[in-house]
Amino acid sequence: MYVLSLVDGNLLVTFCFCMVAVMVNGFACKDPKAVQVTDFFLAGLHMPGNTSNPVGSQVKPVNVSQIPGLNTLGISLARIDFAPWGVNPQHMHPRATEILTVIEGSLEVGFITSNLENRLITKVLQKGDVFVFPVNLVHFQRNTGSCNAVAIVALSSQNPGVITIANAVFGSNPDIANDLLAKSFQTDTKTIDWLQSKF
Ligand SMILES: *[C@@H]1O[C@H](CO)[C@@H](O)[C@H](O)[C@H]1NC(C)=O
Ligand SMILES: *[C@@H]1O[C@H](CO)[C@@H](O)[C@H](O)[C@H]1NC(C)=O
Repeated sequence: MYVLSLVDGNLLVTFCFCMVAVMVNGFACKDPKAVQVTDFFLAGLHMPGNTSNPVGSQVKPVNVSQIPGLNTLGISLARIDFAPWGVNPQHMHPRATEILTVIEGSLEVGFITSNLENRLITKVLQKGDVFVFPVNLVHFQRNTGSCNAVAIVALSSQNPGVITIANAVFGSNPDIANDLLAKSFQTDTKTIDWLQSKF
C-alpha cells in the first residue's frame, strides 16, 4: 500500500491506493490510474431526510462508504434531519470525535462523561451554534422547536462507526437473555420483553 500525493495549486491531496487489491480499514484501495473524480464526490446533501419514523430523525452519512476517496483521510460528515421533537437516540462513535453545527431550527444536545461520574453535559443550541461530542462518549440530540431542524456534523474518521445504545442492548441478534437484562437494569423480564419487542 502506498499513499499518493497530488499537488494541485495550493492543494495537497493524498489518498489511499495500491497496485494490488489491498484493504485498509476494511475498504479497498484503488489503483491510482483507476481513480476518478467520482471517488471524491457526492451530490444531494441539500435534500431533507425522511423523518417519518418512530424517533423522528434521519442521519444521512457521508463516509468512506459513499466517498471511496475518503479512505485513510480521517474525516467524514453527516446531515441530520429532525421532525419537531424528533430525537437522534443515545449513541457513540468508537473512532471519532464529532462537531455539530445547527443550520436550521434549535436542538437540545448532550453527552455523558464516563463511569467516573456519569455527568451529563447538555445545552440547547440555536441556528449557527456549534457543539462537540468527544470520541467514544454516549451522546444524543433532540429538536425542541415546532419546526424541522437540520444539523451538519463532521467526524474525525472516514469510518467513525456507530453504536446505538438501545439497538445494541435491546435489539441484538440473537437477543440477550431477558433475565440477564432484567438483573442488569434492575427491572422485571416483562419490561425487558416489551423493550426487546421495540428494537
Ligand atoms: C418516508 O418514510 C415513510 C415510512 O417508511 C414512508 O411511508 C414514506 O413514503 C416516506 N416518504 C418519502 C417522501 O419517501
Ligand atoms: C457510513 O455509511 C454507511 C452506508 O450508508 C452507514 O451504514 C454507516 O452507518 C455510516 N457510518 C456512520 C458512522 O455513520
